[in-house]
Amino acid sequence: MRRECRVLSWESFGFGGADEICILLEIGRSGFSGVGGQQVIKEADEIERTAMVKTAKHEKTLSQAIKERRATPSFDGTPIPAEDLRKILEAGLSAPSGYNMQPWRFIVVQGEEQKKRLRAAAFNQGKVEEASAVIVACGDADGWRKDLDLMLHRGLEGGMPEGYAAQARSSVPNFLSHFNSDEMHGWLNKMVMISFTHMMLMAEVMGYDTAPMEGFEQDKVHEVLRLPLSYWVVALLGVGHLKGPDKFNGGRFEMGHTVFGEEFGKPLK
Ligand SMILES: Cc1cc2nc3c(=O)[nH]c(=O)nc-3n(C[C@H](O)[C@H](O)[C@H](O)COP(=O)(O)O)c2cc1C
Repeated sequence: MRRECRVLSWESFGFGGADEICILLEIGRSGFSGVGGQQVIKEADEIERTAMVKTAKHEKTLSQAIKERRATPSFDGTPIPAEDLRKILEAGLSAPSGYNMQPWRFIVVQGEEQKKRLRAAAFNQGKVEEASAVIVACGDADGWRKDLDLMLHRGLEGGMPEGYAAQARSSVPNFLSHFNSDEMHGWLNKMVMISFTHMMLMAEVMGYDTAPMEGFEQDKVHEVLRLPLSYWVVALLGVGHLKGPDKFNGGRFEMGHTVFGEEFGKPLK
């Protein structure tokens, strides 16, 4: 097999964001001999191009997204197609959580007036208003009370052993009902941030830019979004397309500074 790589303009697909797209074309050796071979290439090329337009949006690899992601300083405000937003949210909903209790709740803010109000609750950070969508990531302290049966039901449908279900029915309340407010917020922070990170990275893989934000006032966000009292706001995720220059890369500490092997203080071999 021979491989031919054609470079087409990314803009020609109307996606924006990346510079180029590369279509890989695999054609049998015989297809390359003489004029007939060229015709085969042309036709295959056309089919491939049509398939690209119809089905595929180029996605970054996870490694690329992790490497290239920056906390976006400013967004251009272009709307996000609903199906892209759903895909990002679904990534969040696929995250793991303690006992699979999924205590996260998300409020997606896209309306101009609501974004303005949310901005005022977030220390006037401009990117809250500029982002195409702001996903307000919350945890519900009472979620486990309401959702335990549903979680077990889904689990049993998916092959959860009866014995596991019986044990979870008592161990979940035993564990969570004793939490004081700080402990509950700590537990919710853990669960919600895993889901949040799934969404942030999925958005980056899809070619969007993201801005995680902890700069907001809990009470004010509650008021703007009319949240139930059991909700705890964990973080805001702005999603959209970068406007202007990206943020500088602040760099990261070396592994020896933050990672140990076997026990504290020993370098990882
Ligand atoms: C949970 C979380 C909350 C953050 N809150 C804010 C914020 O409120 N405002 C802001 O400008 N940046 C915020 N940041 C962005 C950080 O400043 C940024 O991630 C950090 O400087 C590293 O830069 P980088 O993400 O571009 O690598 C937040 C980041 C995280 C992970």
